[in-house]
Amino acid sequence: METSFIPPSPERTLEGWPDWSILIVDDEQGMLNFLVKTLAPRCHFVMSATSAEDGAHWLRGHHVDLVILDISLPGKSGVAWLKELREHGFTGEVILITAFADLDTAIEALRAGASDFILKPFRVPQILNAVKHCYERSRLRRENFVLRRAVVSTPGLGALVGNSASMQQLRESIARVAPVNSTVLLQGESGTGKELVARELHALGSRAGGPFVPVNCAAVSPELIESELFGHAKGAFTGATRARDGLFHYAQGGTLFLDEIAELPLPIQATLLRAIEDLNIRPVGSEQLVPLNLRIVAATNRQLSDEVTAGRFRKDLYFRLQVVDLTLPPLRQHKDDIAELVAHFNAQLAPSLGVEPLRISEQEMDFLRQYDWPGNVRELRNLIERSLILGSLNVSALYPGEARGPAADTQAPARPTDLHTLEKMHILSVLDSVHGDKTRAAQLLGVSRRTLERRVAEWGAA
Ligand SMILES: Nc1ncnc2c1ncn2[C@@H]1O[C@H](COP(=O)(O)OP(=O)(O)OP(=O)(O)O)[C@@H](O)[C@H]1O
Ligand SMILES: [Mg+2]
Repeated sequence: METSFIPPSPERTLEGWPDWSILIVDDEQGMLNFLVKTLAPRCHFVMSATSAEDGAHWLRGHHVDLVILDISLPGKSGVAWLKELREHGFTGEVILITAFADLDTAIEALRAGASDFILKPFRVPQILNAVKHCYERSRLRRENFVLRRAVVSTPGLGALVGNSASMQQLRESIARVAPVNSTVLLQGESGTGKELVARELHALGSRAGGPFVPVNCAAVSPELIESELFGHAKGAFTGATRARDGLFHYAQGGTLFLDEIAELPLPIQATLLRAIEDLNIRPVGSEQLVPLNLRIVAATNRQLSDEVTAGRFRKDLYFRLQVVDLTLPPLRQHKDDIAELVAHFNAQLAPSLGVEPLRISEQEMDFLRQYDWPGNVRELRNLIERSLILGSLNVSALYPGEARGPAADTQAPARPTDLHTLEKMHILSVLDSVHGDKTRAAQLLGVSRRTLERRVAEWGAA
């Protein structure tokens, strides 16, 4: 087989696309050499082939971001092959090259899904420009996508705080596990910091430069989750009028964070297990296997072994995931960290809310240490945020209704007594702090967006 493989170049001082893999298909050896020589020092991998069949061979075994394709190939033409590629779900960029300036062919090529079209002979700057455009477009697509998802992920994540024995141990485990590429399972109650740890694993791992793509498995409908995760080919099901990439694709080169993994439907659990073991996926309705180059981090706030016993989670996937298993302690088990966490949230949130940091008395601190924190660190963070807005430690939300025990002493004296006014003030300041973004405000308040909207509508009516 006429294929050649150029390993990554050690010095990449040239302007380029160091994370991109490019496949060049042309039957003319001179052209092939010229393109390989031009592009190899500027990108991660260059693969070359002299026919569509050879090209297909590369695509089966490697992740390819861009195909540079000659139109007149022996056997199958470039345009015919491109149509096939698109039908099989290839969503990378494609630049077509040809010696014949024929408008009809150009139009046909663009219709078939080419990103660009250049005429032979061309000079180095022309091909570099075409690649640059493709790269920019693909980067923007990915960024938009990741940004869109970032909106629904937890706000305000920063570094892991706490020096208790259990936090130190957790930090050591993260440092040990991060550089290894194996799949990691994070277990722990809600609000213990699983997403924060997932981001740390990503940031300290070898794919830190790539995207971090969080997926809430509980939030995607069971009918859509397979195509959402793995993508789909054109015509895979009614309504699939064109091929679409899945979340695995967007996480290529980075980390895919599968949050609430216990909610994954059983059939998808089987598909996920295969993906983890074979390191490739098959988009829904596609024949083509797509090789994976990413790390998977999974999280759940359930005891996954219980889910296995109850028959809701596959045992084989559980064993595969728990090879590296980090369990986050509930806050009531590392109360030594409360003072440091309070100081951290105080310092982090006060400037962004535009208020003075809270002064917390010893007595109030005692209360915080006695409390059980069923909502863990998230509950503590929300408490500090709420209190900053109200101007003093406000524990009423921890003890709904009548304040009990030490809480009674920690109520701030100078706050409005009317509960409705208090609530309205609180909601308005939260809304204000996020510039009126209701989704974000609802998240901060710990209520659904609908509840928040209903409350705001009630004031309007009053
Ligand atoms: N050790 C910590 N240091 C600093 N911040 C923390 C720590 N643990 C948790 N947090 C903060 O608490 C909040 C909740 O954390 P996170 O979203 O990671 O929890 P989770 O375990 O994913 O919860 P859930 O299961 O409900 O999704 C976040 O704002 C996070 O930054
Ligand atoms: Mg979470």
